[in-house]
Amino acid sequence: MDRHLTRILLIEDDEEDYILLQKLLAKILATHYDVLWERTYEDGLVRMLAEEHDICMLDYMLGEHNGIDLLKAARRQGYTRPIILLTGASDGGEIDIQALQAGADDYITKGQMQGELLQRVIRYAIERKKAEIEREKLLSEQFAARELEKRRSEFISMVVHELKTPLTSLKGYAQLFRKRYVPGTNEQIARLAERMDSQVNKLTGLVDDFLDVTRITAGKLQFREEYFDFDVLVNEIIEELRPTTERHMICREGITGQTIWGDRMRIGQVITNFLSNAIKYAPETDRILVKTSFDSNVVTLSVQDFGPGVPEEERTNVFSPFYRLEDLRASTVSGLGLGLHIAAEIIRRQEGQIWLESEEGKGATFSFTLPIDRDHASVFDDEMDSIEQAT
Ligand SMILES: Nc1ncnc2c1ncn2[C@@H]1O[C@H](COP(=O)(O)OP(=O)(O)OP(=O)(O)O)[C@@H](O)[C@H]1O
Ligand SMILES: [Mg+2]
Repeated sequence: MDRHLTRILLIEDDEEDYILLQKLLAKILATHYDVLWERTYEDGLVRMLAEEHDICMLDYMLGEHNGIDLLKAARRQGYTRPIILLTGASDGGEIDIQALQAGADDYITKGQMQGELLQRVIRYAIERKKAEIEREKLLSEQFAARELEKRRSEFISMVVHELKTPLTSLKGYAQLFRKRYVPGTNEQIARLAERMDSQVNKLTGLVDDFLDVTRITAGKLQFREEYFDFDVLVNEIIEELRPTTERHMICREGITGQTIWGDRMRIGQVITNFLSNAIKYAPETDRILVKTSFDSNVVTLSVQDFGPGVPEEERTNVFSPFYRLEDLRASTVSGLGLGLHIAAEIIRRQEGQIWLESEEGKGATFSFTLPIDRDHASVFDDEMDSIEQAT
């Protein structure tokens, strides 16, 4: 009956007490106790560190030594088993508190020792210790995981920062080039300068997206909110993207007539991604529809294309980070698969909804709604949230 065997290491200089303990333990039927006995501080310490027992019972008076000193020495050397201090009736004072502070799990007065109490004290001490070790293990695992995550995001921030510095200079040079070579003076160089500028913009966009995703993971995506004219923003983005496609006609349908409260740049980022996706993933088509409307304090925008669409089973996946559909499109078209993930986070943080409707082969419609006027206190809440998440 191994299950009920408890091995006790008793460190006790008085043989009579050893015999008394043996007798008491023998009466407990539920458990079989095996008592290893040591008489001195030195032998006791060696035996403790061998750890071939489940629990240690330790006399407060060990000849010229003090049990609490032994207790401290053992704990200092990494002893993890539960310890119960045995005190005599005359020891008195604050020994119990001292014992607990030194790392004992319990104490028992020799005069009070009787079977049932003894059994309970031993069993509890063992179980408590097990739970404590389990808890510590869990905590240290959590701590290690957090440390790792912290180091990972610090590394990514560093990489992104290192990438951004030369990019910013490149962008400056490209613009300088464009200014110098006005079309008409040297057509070829002007074209090259324009291409260089647009490639630098693309790279900057990728790096920024990457940075946004690391901020989302860290709960640190920041928002700068203001009132702005929603229709003007939509038109601006359409005009910005028109020159990037020769084939598509981008048509605007509906008008909201609304001034809304939110982060203009971030919301623009969502519309840009919807539109650039339509351009990228429906390359064989001629038309892209941008519809906007206003109803019961909510503006709705949708971008509809007439390309291959998104299969049913992929519709939620496209909003996951780094997710791209596995077919030819993905390999010939550039992108990290971050745009929709960032868009979803932006719309969520701006208290709107985002979704995709699609019929395979007939196209995709990406939409979002945004409340026109939110409780501005929530701006503060968002900041509080991100501060809390960051700490
Ligand atoms: N209009 C669309 N039609 C078909 N598939 C689409 C459409 N929009 C997105 N997808 C699919 O969803 C995936 C994720 O889109 P997402 O915008 O997140 O990333 P991406 O465009 O690949 O890269 P980027 O990070 O540059 O935006 C795309 O790779 C594509 O497979
Ligand atoms: Mg995209």
